[in-house]
Amino acid sequence: MTRPSPLTAPEPETPTAPARTKPKWYRRPWIVPLLVVAVGFVAARLPSYLTFDTGDSLVELQPDFPETHYLLLSIHIFFGSIALIACSLQVWPWLRNTYPRVHRITGRVYVLAGVLPAGLLALAVSVVSTVDVAGRIGNVMVSLLWLGSTFAGFHYARKRRFREHRRMMIYSFALCWSIVLNRVWIAIFFIMLMPLENTYYSGDLDAMIADVAVASIWTGWIVNLIIAEWWLNRRPKARKRTAPATKVAVGA
Ligand code: HEM
Repeated sequence: MTRPSPLTAPEPETPTAPARTKPKWYRRPWIVPLLVVAVGFVAARLPSYLTFDTGDSLVELQPDFPETHYLLLSIHIFFGSIALIACSLQVWPWLRNTYPRVHRITGRVYVLAGVLPAGLLALAVSVVSTVDVAGRIGNVMVSLLWLGSTFAGFHYARKRRFREHRRMMIYSFALCWSIVLNRVWIAIFFIMLMPLENTYYSGDLDAMIADVAVASIWTGWIVNLIIAEWWLNRRPKARKRTAPATKVAVGA
């Protein structure tokens, strides 16, 4: 009796998942507003920190060392701008699937030319900031979490552990974008606390603004991390129907 050769043996019949068609870039309408907001934020903030004029700073500088504080802010914001735009490109599925090489290059730019310098400088500007101590603690926390999640994600990508890479980089994206969302929270808290200006704050607008700053710093990154966690644990109908069980998408 001849045994069937393993080379010629017929393939066992396995149920095949329906082929996943790559959606066109314009089928991802969220990427356009995301990039517009990222570029708009950078265009609105960065120029004030490239003039080498401390008078242009949009935040209060330390009276004892305004030039050094301004310089730290300028470098932080320059590299933060690279990080914000790079991380917005990284979560674009069309770019990731169509040009994986670009994803790898932009990923390195995000980590090494964005988060590393911007995150270390964020620690410095958090410590010397003129906001209340509770706000400074909140900023130090987000700096550490941003650096930690990004480098964990980078490590996992190098080890080709893409499930963990995806999780860490979604946290990193959420923390990076908390800086933009923080400005929205400032407006929300300001509107919420305005009715208390003449009662609880006895007309002290500065005290109210100080509370708005602290509340928005903490809310900005905590809410974003909660949304990221929900996103990671959700079970989208489309993915359940079409994705093979073993395939792990890299990114959102
Ligand atoms: C996620 C980690 C980050 C932390 C913890 C952080 C922290 C800080 C702190 C403490 C300040 C000084 C605020 C003050 O003294 O009142 C600051 C300023 C600033 N940061 Fe960051 N930052 C981070 C990421 C980014 C990113 C990714 C950008 C993107 C461009 C950015 C843009 C800015 C800008 C524009 C300012 C000047 C304030 C303003 O004009 O609104 N930061 N940051």
